[in-house]
This record gives sequence, C-alpha cells and structure tokens, in this order.
Amino acid sequence: MEIQTHVNEVEKIVLSYMPPEEGYARTVLSAMNYTMTAGGKRLRPMLMLETYRLFGGDQRIVEPFMAAIEMIHTYSLIHDDLPALDNDDYRRGRKTAHIVYGEDMAILAGDALLNYAYETAAKAFDLLSDRDNNAPDPKQEDTDHIRRMEQVIKAYTILARKPGIYGMIGGQTADVELTGKQLTEEELNYIYENKTGALIEASMMIGAILAGAKEEQAAAVEKLAGIVGYAFQIQDDILDIEGSAEELGKPLHSDEENGKVTYVTIHGLDKAKQDVARMTEEAVEILDTLPGNNQFLRELILSLISRSK
Ligand code: IPE
Ligand code: IPE
Ligand code: MG
Ligand code: MG
Ligand code: MG
Repeated sequence: MEIQTHVNEVEKIVLSYMPPEEGYARTVLSAMNYTMTAGGKRLRPMLMLETYRLFGGDQRIVEPFMAAIEMIHTYSLIHDDLPALDNDDYRRGRKTAHIVYGEDMAILAGDALLNYAYETAAKAFDLLSDRDNNAPDPKQEDTDHIRRMEQVIKAYTILARKPGIYGMIGGQTADVELTGKQLTEEELNYIYENKTGALIEASMMIGAILAGAKEEQAAAVEKLAGIVGYAFQIQDDILDIEGSAEELGKPLHSDEENGKVTYVTIHGLDKAKQDVARMTEEAVEILDTLPGNNQFLRELILSLISRSK
C-alpha cells in the first residue's frame, strides 16, 4: 500500500514532463510516451527523491532530474530490447516499442528520450530562485545563490557522465560484446557496476547533491548505490530464471536464449540469492552511517532483496 502511494507520487512528477504527441514528429513522441507510461517500478526517480529527502531537501528542483533519469532508464530499456541487442518482445507488460512502432521508430524514440532527458533536467536552472536583491545580508545571499547553482551544475554533470561511456553504455557494450563468452570476475563486475549500477548511483548521488550533501557524503552514497545496483542486477538475473513473466511484465529466460553468462550461471542460484541479501544489508549499513533518517528509503532498499518484479 505505502509503496504504491510513493509510486503514484513519483509517476505524477515524471509524466508531467513528457512532451505532447503533436506535429510531424508525433509518431516518435507517441513511441516515447508508450514505453514511459507503460508503468515500471520508478525505482530510480524514487531513490533520487528519497535520497534528496534524507539530506533534508524539500524543493521542486529535484523534479526535472527525476523525470530525466526515468527517461534515460526507459531509453535504455527500449534499446536493450531491440533485435540487435537482447531481442525481447515484452516490456512493462506491453509489446516492446519496436514491435508496435517498428525498429526505426524504437531507435529514434530511444534517442529522443535520451536527448529530451537533458532538455528536461536543464529546467532545473529555471527553477533556481533568482538572487534576492532585497536580502538583509547581500553577501550571504550571493554565497547561497552560487551554492545552489553549483549543486545543479554538479547534478547535471553526474547525469551526463553515469549513463554514458564511463557508466551504463560502457556496461551495455561489454554485456553485448561478451555475450556467449565465459566471463572473468573482473569482466562480470565491470558489466554489473556499469550497465545497472551507474544509473542507480546517478539517481542517489543527484538526490544527495541537490540537497546539499558534502563531498564525502556523496561518495558514501555512490558506494552504497553501487552495491544496491549490483544486487539489483543479480536479482534481475534470478527473476529471469524463476520469476513470473506476468508479474515482471517481460519474458523469462531472455538470458538463456541469448547465451548470457550471468552472476547466476557463474555462482549458482543459492549463492546468488545469499549475495543479494548480503550486499543489500551492506548497503543499508552504509546508509545508516549517513546523517538524517529516512525510514522509507531504508525499507525500500531492503525490500529489493525479496522483490518479485
Ligand atoms: C530493468 O530495470 C533493467 C535493469 C537494469 C535490470 P527495472 O527492473 O527497474 O525496470 P522497470 O523500470 O521497473 O521497468
Ligand atoms: C539491462 O540488463 C541493463 C540495461 C541497461 C537496460 P538486462 O538486459 O538484464 O535487463 P532486462 O532483463 O532486459 O530488463
Ligand atoms: Mg541486456
Ligand atoms: Mg534485456
Ligand atoms: Mg535481465
């Protein structure tokens, strides 16, 4: 019940930033909206918002970033499902974008979501309140104004880096290229830390930074988010084997059909499950060292151990 209230809150914010389906490009706009509105757990924007709240954030500045990270994540799913990558026909309980709109429009919808994410996040600059010319302490007002601007610039920089070649794309590249090959521990770590870990790191770090977290706190958030992301991907691999396609909204046995070597094929289901639990608890231990208290965030992370979708 409680989680659904949070999903609704996040979804309302995220979808409010989607463009209307009009004009000569409306087919691609429609394809973007098709996968964005299909649902999904909204985990990344939710982690962003709750990390922002953990550090005391209570402004709308986080909202364009929440929409942007979900757009980037959704683009990654549309492209991940393409015949040239994982070749999957279902996503979020619907036929995938390329099945409904064709590969051409699915590729463009992914490109469009990625680009529009940055156009959307840039709206945070408009939300920065203007410098107050009548502030009682003009010097202090200057300092505060510059600090708020620096936070948005830092957040924007993370949004640019983590989904890119030094993050998600890097991980997807190795994942695709090494498909069907035996992986070393180092290769497996690189893939999980990047294809999945990087966006979770970006989500939580952006929340922390926008709320004014100090450098060492942001580093602790990056570390714990990386662990959450790694465990999240192991659980995704477990569910690909023994989940419910109906609940997941995507097909089972995608990894097996593609000949993917995963954490589960290397370590076995039992160890994989134990490690998801161990890593998640490790992440929560780091969370507990941070100032502030967000019980919902803590429970949300712990709930990922036993997630079935
Ligand atoms: C799926 O992510 C891709 C992975 C990184 C495993 P999610 O499981 O968060 O997908 P949605 O957003 O709920 O559809
Ligand atoms: C996805 O990994 C990582 C992405 C960056 C999209 P998977 O290929 O295992 O994700 P699913 O199972 O298709 O959601
Ligand atoms: Mg994949
Ligand atoms: Mg896939
Ligand atoms: Mg998977």
